[in-house]
Amino acid sequence: MGTEGHKTVIKKSFWTVTKPRTTGKERATLDRVFSKLGILSRANAAREIESGKVTVNGKVIRRPDHWVSLMTDRVHWKGRPIRNQKKVYFMFYKPRGVVTSYGDPDERKTVYDYLSGIEKWVFPVGRLDMDTSGLLILTNDTEFGDGITRPGSKVHKTYQVKVNFLPTSEELQSLEQGIVFKDGTKTLPARARILKQGPKFATLELVLVEGKNRQVRRMIEALGGKVLKLVRTRIGKLNLGDLPVGRYRQLSAQDLRLLREHPE
Ligand code: URA
Repeated sequence: MGTEGHKTVIKKSFWTVTKPRTTGKERATLDRVFSKLGILSRANAAREIESGKVTVNGKVIRRPDHWVSLMTDRVHWKGRPIRNQKKVYFMFYKPRGVVTSYGDPDERKTVYDYLSGIEKWVFPVGRLDMDTSGLLILTNDTEFGDGITRPGSKVHKTYQVKVNFLPTSEELQSLEQGIVFKDGTKTLPARARILKQGPKFATLELVLVEGKNRQVRRMIEALGGKVLKLVRTRIGKLNLGDLPVGRYRQLSAQDLRLLREHPE
Protein backbone atom coordinates (compact mmCIF):
# COMPACT_ATOMS: atom_id res chain seq x y z
CA MET A 1 0.00 0.00 0.00
CA GLY A 2 1.20 3.53 -0.60
CA THR A 3 0.42 6.55 1.48
CA GLU A 4 -2.88 6.71 -0.37
CA GLY A 5 -4.14 3.44 1.14
CA HIS A 6 -3.12 4.54 4.59
CA LYS A 7 -5.04 7.79 4.21
CA THR A 8 -8.19 5.77 3.51
CA VAL A 9 -7.73 4.04 6.85
CA ILE A 10 -7.47 7.34 8.63
CA LYS A 11 -10.46 9.00 7.00
CA LYS A 12 -12.84 6.17 7.75
CA SER A 13 -11.72 5.59 11.30
CA PHE A 14 -14.39 6.61 13.82
CA TRP A 15 -11.59 7.09 16.30
CA THR A 16 -9.76 9.69 14.26
CA VAL A 17 -12.97 11.43 13.29
CA THR A 18 -13.50 12.21 16.97
CA LYS A 19 -10.04 13.79 17.22
CA PRO A 20 -8.93 16.79 15.20
CA ARG A 21 -6.38 15.87 12.55
CA THR A 22 -3.98 18.49 13.78
CA THR A 23 -3.35 17.33 17.34
CA GLY A 24 -0.53 14.98 16.38
CA LYS A 25 -1.93 12.51 18.92
CA GLU A 26 -3.16 9.94 16.43
CA ARG A 27 -0.79 7.37 17.78
CA ALA A 28 -1.48 3.92 19.14
CA THR A 29 0.36 0.72 19.83
CA LEU A 30 0.42 -1.68 16.92
CA ASP A 31 -1.89 -4.28 18.52
CA ARG A 32 -4.39 -1.55 19.35
CA VAL A 33 -4.46 -0.27 15.79
CA PHE A 34 -5.82 -3.67 14.70
CA SER A 35 -8.62 -3.59 17.26
CA LYS A 36 -9.41 0.09 16.65
CA LEU A 37 -9.90 -0.61 12.97
CA GLY A 38 -12.09 -3.62 13.78
CA ILE A 39 -9.73 -6.17 12.23
CA LEU A 40 -8.56 -8.37 15.12
CA SER A 41 -8.71 -8.46 18.90
CA ARG A 42 -5.61 -7.08 20.58
CA ALA A 43 -4.63 -10.58 21.72
CA ASN A 44 -4.91 -12.03 18.21
CA ALA A 45 -3.13 -9.02 16.72
CA ALA A 46 -0.30 -9.51 19.22
CA ARG A 47 0.10 -13.11 18.05
CA GLU A 48 0.24 -12.04 14.41
CA ILE A 49 2.75 -9.28 15.19
CA GLU A 50 4.98 -11.56 17.25
CA SER A 51 5.04 -14.15 14.49
CA GLY A 52 6.44 -11.56 12.05
CA LYS A 53 3.40 -11.05 9.82
CA VAL A 54 3.18 -7.30 10.32
CA THR A 55 5.35 -4.58 8.81
CA VAL A 56 5.50 -0.88 9.55
CA ASN A 57 6.93 1.22 6.73
CA GLY A 58 8.29 -1.95 5.13
CA LYS A 59 10.05 -3.27 8.23
CA VAL A 60 8.89 -6.33 10.19
CA ILE A 61 7.91 -5.28 13.72
CA ARG A 62 7.47 -8.04 16.29
CA ARG A 63 6.53 -5.92 19.29
CA PRO A 64 2.78 -5.41 19.84
CA ASP A 65 3.53 -2.35 21.99
CA HIS A 66 5.40 -0.62 19.16
CA TRP A 67 3.86 2.85 18.72
CA VAL A 68 2.71 3.91 15.30
CA SER A 69 1.23 7.04 13.88
CA LEU A 70 -2.06 6.52 12.11
CA MET A 71 -1.33 9.63 10.09
CA THR A 72 2.00 8.75 8.59
CA ASP A 73 2.99 5.11 9.18
CA ARG A 74 2.15 2.41 6.64
CA VAL A 75 1.05 -0.82 8.30
CA HIS A 76 0.78 -4.09 6.34
CA TRP A 77 -0.49 -7.44 7.59
CA LYS A 78 0.48 -10.53 5.56
CA GLY A 79 1.65 -8.19 2.81
CA ARG A 80 -1.62 -6.25 2.55
CA PRO A 81 -2.38 -2.75 3.85
CA ILE A 82 -4.66 -2.77 6.86
CA ARG A 83 -7.95 -1.01 6.31
CA ASN A 84 -10.74 0.14 8.51
CA GLN A 85 -13.44 -2.56 8.56
CA LYS A 86 -17.13 -1.94 8.12
CA LYS A 87 -18.52 -1.85 11.64
CA VAL A 88 -20.98 -4.58 12.54
CA TYR A 89 -23.26 -4.90 15.57
CA PHE A 90 -25.21 -7.89 16.87
CA MET A 91 -27.21 -8.89 19.90
CA PHE A 92 -27.01 -12.45 21.18
CA TYR A 93 -29.06 -14.36 23.73
CA LYS A 94 -26.29 -16.13 25.62
CA PRO A 95 -27.42 -19.44 27.06
CA ARG A 96 -26.49 -20.50 30.57
CA GLY A 97 -23.38 -22.73 30.75
CA VAL A 98 -21.47 -20.95 27.97
CA VAL A 99 -18.32 -18.89 28.55
CA THR A 100 -17.95 -15.41 27.07
CA SER A 101 -14.24 -15.68 26.22
CA TYR A 102 -12.65 -16.56 22.88
CA GLY A 103 -11.43 -20.12 23.24
CA ASP A 104 -11.46 -21.85 26.59
CA PRO A 105 -8.54 -23.84 28.07
CA ASP A 106 -11.06 -26.28 29.60
CA GLU A 107 -12.78 -26.70 26.23
CA ARG A 108 -16.12 -25.49 27.49
CA LYS A 109 -18.61 -24.09 25.00
CA THR A 110 -17.99 -20.42 24.20
CA VAL A 111 -20.25 -17.77 22.69
CA TYR A 112 -18.23 -18.08 19.47
CA ASP A 113 -19.61 -21.59 19.00
CA TYR A 114 -22.93 -19.87 18.30
CA LEU A 115 -21.61 -17.18 15.95
CA SER A 116 -20.27 -19.15 13.01
CA GLY A 117 -22.45 -17.11 10.62
CA ILE A 118 -20.63 -13.88 11.50
CA GLU A 119 -17.66 -13.50 9.20
CA LYS A 120 -15.97 -10.53 10.83
CA TRP A 121 -14.05 -10.55 14.10
CA VAL A 122 -16.45 -9.42 16.82
CA PHE A 123 -15.93 -9.13 20.55
CA PRO A 124 -18.45 -9.26 23.40
CA VAL A 125 -19.22 -5.88 24.96
CA GLY A 126 -18.77 -6.74 28.63
CA ARG A 127 -18.90 -10.25 29.97
CA LEU A 128 -21.58 -12.48 31.37
CA ASP A 129 -20.57 -15.24 33.78
CA MET A 130 -20.83 -18.80 32.58
CA ASP A 131 -23.97 -19.38 34.68
CA THR A 132 -25.63 -16.13 33.60
CA SER A 133 -27.77 -16.02 30.50
CA GLY A 134 -29.12 -13.08 28.56
CA LEU A 135 -28.31 -10.14 26.38
CA LEU A 136 -24.80 -9.74 25.02
CA ILE A 137 -23.81 -7.20 22.38
CA LEU A 138 -21.12 -8.20 19.90
CA THR A 139 -19.31 -5.80 17.61
CA ASN A 140 -15.97 -4.95 16.00
CA ASP A 141 -16.40 -1.29 17.00
CA THR A 142 -14.15 -0.76 20.02
CA GLU A 143 -15.25 2.88 20.47
CA PHE A 144 -18.87 1.80 20.68
CA GLY A 145 -18.03 -1.05 23.06
CA ASP A 146 -16.02 1.21 25.34
CA GLY A 147 -18.92 3.67 25.35
CA ILE A 148 -21.15 1.00 26.88
CA THR A 149 -18.74 -0.56 29.37
CA ARG A 150 -16.68 2.46 30.44
CA PRO A 151 -17.27 3.33 34.12
CA GLY A 152 -19.32 6.49 34.10
CA SER A 153 -20.97 5.69 30.75
CA LYS A 154 -24.30 5.51 32.61
CA VAL A 155 -25.62 2.81 30.32
CA HIS A 156 -28.17 0.90 32.40
CA LYS A 157 -27.91 -2.88 32.52
CA THR A 158 -31.05 -4.64 33.71
CA TYR A 159 -30.99 -8.07 35.32
CA GLN A 160 -33.65 -10.46 36.53
CA VAL A 161 -32.27 -12.35 39.47
CA LYS A 162 -33.90 -15.20 41.35
CA VAL A 163 -32.64 -15.41 44.91
CA ASN A 164 -33.12 -17.97 47.70
CA PHE A 165 -34.72 -15.56 50.17
CA LEU A 166 -37.31 -12.84 50.39
CA PRO A 167 -35.48 -9.51 50.70
CA THR A 168 -36.73 -7.04 53.29
CA SER A 169 -37.28 -3.42 52.35
CA GLU A 170 -34.02 -2.56 54.17
CA GLU A 171 -32.16 -5.08 52.02
CA LEU A 172 -33.69 -3.65 48.85
CA GLN A 173 -32.64 -0.23 50.06
CA SER A 174 -29.05 -1.30 50.60
CA LEU A 175 -28.94 -2.84 47.10
CA GLU A 176 -30.08 0.53 45.81
CA GLN A 177 -27.83 2.70 47.94
CA GLY A 178 -24.66 0.70 47.43
CA ILE A 179 -23.10 -2.44 48.84
CA VAL A 180 -19.56 -2.41 50.19
CA PHE A 181 -17.65 -5.50 49.07
CA LYS A 182 -14.91 -7.22 51.08
CA ASP A 183 -12.24 -5.46 49.01
CA GLY A 184 -13.65 -2.11 50.17
CA THR A 185 -15.20 -1.09 46.81
CA LYS A 186 -18.76 0.19 46.89
CA THR A 187 -21.38 -0.29 44.22
CA LEU A 188 -22.96 2.77 42.61
CA PRO A 189 -26.62 3.57 43.28
CA ALA A 190 -28.91 1.06 41.56
CA ARG A 191 -32.61 0.29 41.29
CA ALA A 192 -34.06 -2.83 42.88
CA ARG A 193 -37.63 -4.11 42.99
CA ILE A 194 -39.37 -7.40 43.58
CA LEU A 195 -41.04 -8.87 40.49
CA LYS A 196 -42.22 -12.16 41.98
CA GLN A 197 -42.08 -13.75 45.38
CA GLY A 198 -42.72 -17.05 47.09
CA PRO A 199 -42.24 -18.14 50.68
CA LYS A 200 -38.57 -19.02 50.14
CA PHE A 201 -37.47 -17.13 47.07
CA ALA A 202 -37.94 -13.94 45.13
CA THR A 203 -37.26 -12.71 41.62
CA LEU A 204 -35.86 -9.19 41.58
CA GLU A 205 -35.20 -6.69 38.88
CA LEU A 206 -31.86 -4.96 39.40
CA VAL A 207 -30.78 -2.04 37.25
CA LEU A 208 -27.05 -1.23 37.44
CA VAL A 209 -24.99 1.48 35.80
CA GLU A 210 -21.69 -0.35 36.10
CA GLY A 211 -20.29 -3.82 35.53
CA LYS A 212 -17.98 -4.93 38.27
CA ASN A 213 -16.84 -8.53 38.11
CA ARG A 214 -19.73 -10.86 39.19
CA GLN A 215 -21.43 -7.78 40.55
CA VAL A 216 -24.99 -9.06 40.95
CA ARG A 217 -23.86 -12.31 42.57
CA ARG A 218 -21.57 -10.44 44.97
CA MET A 219 -24.32 -7.96 45.89
CA ILE A 220 -26.72 -10.79 46.73
CA GLU A 221 -24.02 -12.73 48.60
CA ALA A 222 -23.27 -9.61 50.65
CA LEU A 223 -26.85 -9.86 51.93
CA GLY A 224 -26.20 -13.48 52.91
CA GLY A 225 -28.21 -14.89 50.00
CA LYS A 226 -27.57 -16.92 46.90
CA VAL A 227 -28.40 -16.37 43.24
CA LEU A 228 -30.48 -19.20 41.80
CA LYS A 229 -30.85 -17.75 38.32
CA LEU A 230 -29.49 -14.64 36.63
CA VAL A 231 -30.57 -13.21 33.28
CA ARG A 232 -29.55 -9.90 31.71
CA THR A 233 -32.70 -8.67 30.03
CA ARG A 234 -31.75 -5.17 28.81
CA ILE A 235 -28.84 -2.91 27.98
CA GLY A 236 -30.02 0.69 27.90
CA LYS A 237 -33.34 0.51 26.06
CA LEU A 238 -32.35 -2.55 24.06
CA ASN A 239 -34.10 -5.67 25.29
CA LEU A 240 -34.04 -9.34 24.35
CA GLY A 241 -37.53 -9.15 22.82
CA ASP A 242 -38.46 -12.47 21.23
CA LEU A 243 -34.90 -13.50 20.38
CA PRO A 244 -34.63 -17.23 21.16
CA VAL A 245 -31.90 -18.48 23.52
CA GLY A 246 -28.68 -19.21 21.64
CA ARG A 247 -29.57 -17.02 18.64
CA TYR A 248 -28.26 -13.67 17.46
CA ARG A 249 -29.49 -10.90 15.20
CA GLN A 250 -27.99 -7.82 13.65
CA LEU A 251 -28.78 -4.55 15.43
CA SER A 252 -30.80 -2.09 13.37
CA ALA A 253 -29.98 1.60 12.97
CA GLN A 254 -32.85 2.28 15.36
CA ASP A 255 -31.35 -0.10 17.99
CA LEU A 256 -28.00 1.67 17.70
CA ARG A 257 -29.63 5.06 18.05
CA LEU A 258 -31.44 3.87 21.19
CA LEU A 259 -28.18 2.67 22.70
CA ARG A 260 -26.27 5.81 21.83
CA GLU A 261 -28.91 8.38 22.70
CA HIS A 262 -30.85 6.76 25.55
CA PRO A 263 -28.48 4.87 27.82
CA GLU A 264 -31.25 4.50 30.41
N1 URA B 1 -23.40 -9.78 37.49
C1 URA B 1 -23.00 -11.03 37.73
O1 URA B 1 -22.86 -11.43 38.88
N2 URA B 1 -22.77 -11.83 36.69
C2 URA B 1 -22.92 -11.44 35.41
O2 URA B 1 -22.69 -12.24 34.48
C3 URA B 1 -23.33 -10.13 35.17
C4 URA B 1 -23.56 -9.31 36.23
